[in-house]
Amino acid sequence: MTTDLDQMQTDMLAAIDAASGLDALDAVRVQALGKTGVITTLLKSLGAMTPEERQAKGPAIHGLREAITAAIATRKAALERADLDARLARETIDMTLPAEPALVGSIHPVSQVMDELAEIFADLGFAVATGPEIEDDWHNFSALNIPETHPARAMHDTFYLAGEHERPIVLRTHTSPVQIRTMMTQAPPIRIIAPGRTYRSDSDATHTPMFHQVEGLVIDKGITLGHLKWTLETFLKAFFERDDVVLRLRPSYFPFTEPSAEVDVGFTVQNGKRVIGGGGDTENGGWMEVLGSGMVHPKVIAACGLDPDEWQGFAFGCGIDRLAMLKYGMDDLRPFFDGDLRWMKHYGFSCLDVPTLSAGVGA
Ligand code: DAH
Repeated sequence: MTTDLDQMQTDMLAAIDAASGLDALDAVRVQALGKTGVITTLLKSLGAMTPEERQAKGPAIHGLREAITAAIATRKAALERADLDARLARETIDMTLPAEPALVGSIHPVSQVMDELAEIFADLGFAVATGPEIEDDWHNFSALNIPETHPARAMHDTFYLAGEHERPIVLRTHTSPVQIRTMMTQAPPIRIIAPGRTYRSDSDATHTPMFHQVEGLVIDKGITLGHLKWTLETFLKAFFERDDVVLRLRPSYFPFTEPSAEVDVGFTVQNGKRVIGGGGDTENGGWMEVLGSGMVHPKVIAACGLDPDEWQGFAFGCGIDRLAMLKYGMDDLRPFFDGDLRWMKHYGFSCLDVPTLSAGVGA
C-alpha cells in the first residue's frame, strides 16, 4: 500500500509539474481531489476500515492529500505569476495619448457647489466636518431632540437597515447628526459646515432618494440670531455672486432649534425665469425658501455634554442640489444622477472648473 501511495504521489507530482496552464492544472486537481478523484476515493475508503487498519493507513493517505494540495497551490501561484508577467509584457498603455473628446469628464454641479461652499465658509473661518451616511437613530433623531414618539420621525421617510442592533441603524435623513458628532468630539468654539449625502424614501421631479445637504453649526459664547442672519446673508451673496440678495427669516419649527426660522431669498422674474437677487415684496418678484435654521436648542447642546448656560450657537441646513439648480438654472433634479456628460456641458460645467473667491466663484 505504501509503495502504491508513493508511486501515486510521484505520478501526481509529475503531472502537476507538467501542467502547462491553469486549465491543465485544474484537470489534475479534479482527477486527484475532485468529488470522485483518486485521493477522495481513498479518503472515503477509510470509513469502511477497522480502527486498526485506519490507524495504519490513515496517516499515509492524509499525507498524500496534503502533499498534493500543497504542490497544486505552489504550481497555481507560479502559473498565475507567469500569466501576469506575460500580460504586463504584452499590454501597454500610452498615458500621453489625449482622451477621446467624448470621454473628457466634467466636474459635477454638486461637487462644484460643495467646493464653492467650502471656499465661501473657509473665508468666514469655518472648517469642513464629515459624518457617516449609515447612522444610528440616536445621532439622527434622539440627540437632536426628536424623541421616539415624535411625529418628525415619521415625516422623514427614513430608510431603516434590517437586523438587530443596539440602536436602530438608518441612512441619515439629514446632515444634522454631524452637529452632534462634532460637538461630542471637538471642544467649542466650533465653526463647521458639513456637506454630504442624505437619504429619504421619496422620488419625483424635485426629490430623489439620495440627495445632498449642507449643515452649518456655530457654538461659542454670546452667539445671537444676529450672527446667524449676517452669516447667511454673507454666504448667499457670495454664493449667488450678487450684492442685492435679500433675505426673509420666517418663524418656523425644528425640534433641534429654538427659535427656528425658515429662510427665504428674494427673486425677480426676468424673461419669464426666476432669478435670485432683488425682488421679495416687489411687484416683479417674490420669495422662495432656501434653508432651515435657528438657535441650537439647549437640549441638543446638553445631549452632547456641553453646558447650555455657557455655550450657545446657531445652525442651518440647506439642500445642495437645490442650490445648484437655483444658481445654474436646472429645473429637474433627476438628471443630476444620470451621469450624462452632455447634460453637464449644456449647463456649462467643465473638468477644469476650480472655484476660488478671488477668481470669482464658479468662474
Ligand atoms: N435638518 C433639517 C432638514 O433636513 C434642516 C435644518 C433645519 C437643519 C434647521 C438645521 C436647522 O441645522 O437649524 O429638514
